[in-house]
Amino acid sequence: MCGIVAYIGRRPALPVLLEGLKRLEYRGYDSAGLAVLNGGLKVAKAVGRVAVLEDLVNRQGGFDATMGVAHTRWATHGGVTEKNAHPHRDDATLGHGVVVIHNGIIENYATLKRYLEEKGHVFTSETDTEVLAHLIGELYRGDLERAVQSALREVTGAYAIAVMCAKEPDVMVVARKGSPLMVGVGKDEYVVASDSSAIVAHTTQAITLDDYTVARITRDSFRTTTVDNVPVTAEIRELEYDLGQIDLGAFDHYMLKEIHEQPNALRLCMKGRLDLRSGQIVLGGVSEFARELARAKRVIFVGQGTALHAGMVAEYLMEDLAKIPTDVDFASEFRYRNPMVEEGTVVVAISQSGETADTLAALQEAKQRGALALGLVNVVGSSISRETDAGVYLRVGPEIGVASTKAFLGQVCVATMLAAFVGRRRFLSADAVRELMEQMERVPSHIERILAQSEEIKRATARYVERDNWLFLGRGYNYPVALEGALKLKEISYIHAEGMPAAEMKHGPIALIDEGMPVVFVATRNSQYEKILSNIEEVRSRGGHVIAVATEGDEEIRRHVQEVFWVPDVPEPLQPLLTVVPLQLLAYHAALMRGRDVDKPRNLAKSVTVE
Ligand code: M6R
Repeated sequence: MCGIVAYIGRRPALPVLLEGLKRLEYRGYDSAGLAVLNGGLKVAKAVGRVAVLEDLVNRQGGFDATMGVAHTRWATHGGVTEKNAHPHRDDATLGHGVVVIHNGIIENYATLKRYLEEKGHVFTSETDTEVLAHLIGELYRGDLERAVQSALREVTGAYAIAVMCAKEPDVMVVARKGSPLMVGVGKDEYVVASDSSAIVAHTTQAITLDDYTVARITRDSFRTTTVDNVPVTAEIRELEYDLGQIDLGAFDHYMLKEIHEQPNALRLCMKGRLDLRSGQIVLGGVSEFARELARAKRVIFVGQGTALHAGMVAEYLMEDLAKIPTDVDFASEFRYRNPMVEEGTVVVAISQSGETADTLAALQEAKQRGALALGLVNVVGSSISRETDAGVYLRVGPEIGVASTKAFLGQVCVATMLAAFVGRRRFLSADAVRELMEQMERVPSHIERILAQSEEIKRATARYVERDNWLFLGRGYNYPVALEGALKLKEISYIHAEGMPAAEMKHGPIALIDEGMPVVFVATRNSQYEKILSNIEEVRSRGGHVIAVATEGDEEIRRHVQEVFWVPDVPEPLQPLLTVVPLQLLAYHAALMRGRDVDKPRNLAKSVTVE
């Protein structure tokens, strides 16, 4: 989604801005722009990659300044054009040289635009952001901070903004509501960004702004207020990751790096949380609510995309291990469908970024209806993590690739621990939990064995990569994995893929199967193995080619399928942690063979901060 980086300090701003924009590229964008303030305002915008913008400013020159704002845009209002790219300025004749970059959506922009047009403002873009820039200019009376506060009081919607004004060359004003924004605090300098990856190269001390907070920043002062100008305190915290974690290292793509990081990511995720001696799962983040959880009448997991698929696995886990009636829902549907939230309901939001707008809103809705609100989130201090009553961090490290991989494993791993944590307080014996934990501890080395098959998976993928339609089928715990396999393939290779429960195929989709159509079965040895073999035969007899993810040593399945990717044998609840890995590799190889930009697939954003 859109990215913000801004700098005010004593160093040249341009390198900080460009380097920050490059760090934010992974979020997905279609155009970029920047403005610096040094005597006057100098603005540059370009459609396409940050490299195009960099080339433009280098050619133009004159961007020497020690303060500036920069932005990557992911179009919401208006097409992908240079005019619509940020920064936006206030009215050319009525204005005061106000310049704004913005993430989020100004919902009442049309009303505000009409009001401003009546006052003579002339707009040059189709964006909601330009309306905000004009509104700030309209309300400017010699004090930028006051003008921003006044404008934000008129605005409905979500925003993270950074604002400069040619008339106040030493002041930057930033503000947030509903879209992430943090301020890195260095020595005599501040780096503002929508995500810490653009800050950590300069400082690890940062302030995450709260909603409705406005910060006025100069080179040697910083103060925060509400939009009503009431002073608020802002807490500086240590950012938890370093540059090494967000560099590619020896890998060609972040997705591949993150797939390979999965064994260690899971080790970190489980570290200190599995107490084999006592047979207890230790989840400090939710221990305060252990009684409520044990007495819960219903659990509802909400999320979007990959996080939703993790929620579907979590539903099986929670019913299996904790014996609590459990549902899972798209956060976007849950928030608008007048959901039943009775006493004893626990709503668990799952999110890598902790910034997904629908998931955040679903959680807020659940809280308002009286649910205990928990979060399984990766990004520390993110909006969702701050909104929850309690939660468990995934601890899998930053995920940069747009296709979620290690976060899925982290989400499923934490959901497994949560289900066992609750189950132990209900019906699960210490021995049962101990046995589960022993098996969990072996999962990282099992994944290493699967990763070693990458070349075989690549060769098999090459045999089908020209096919434009794929099916992914699974049953039980492997049904969400089939959905996740299909999502991975379509989002990075643009091959059409559908995932579904294997039994559902006979109710319509079987009509799609023709000679050579690739059908991926997640067919490990488990309670539904015989049934899935029958489904495989149904596909084979119609000419489909079967690629199976199967349990090591299963000689039987070889006779039924064209290709097999092997995973070690683990108990059924842990199978998704393994069976998804070959499907991630399949999608990765297919995307490369089709010449796709694996880490920045078209039209996609890493974190969807608008509805
Ligand atoms: O940050 P979140 O986990 O809340 O993101 C949810 C989805 O947008 C995300 O999982 C998306 O589906 C991924 N691109 C899938 O790889």
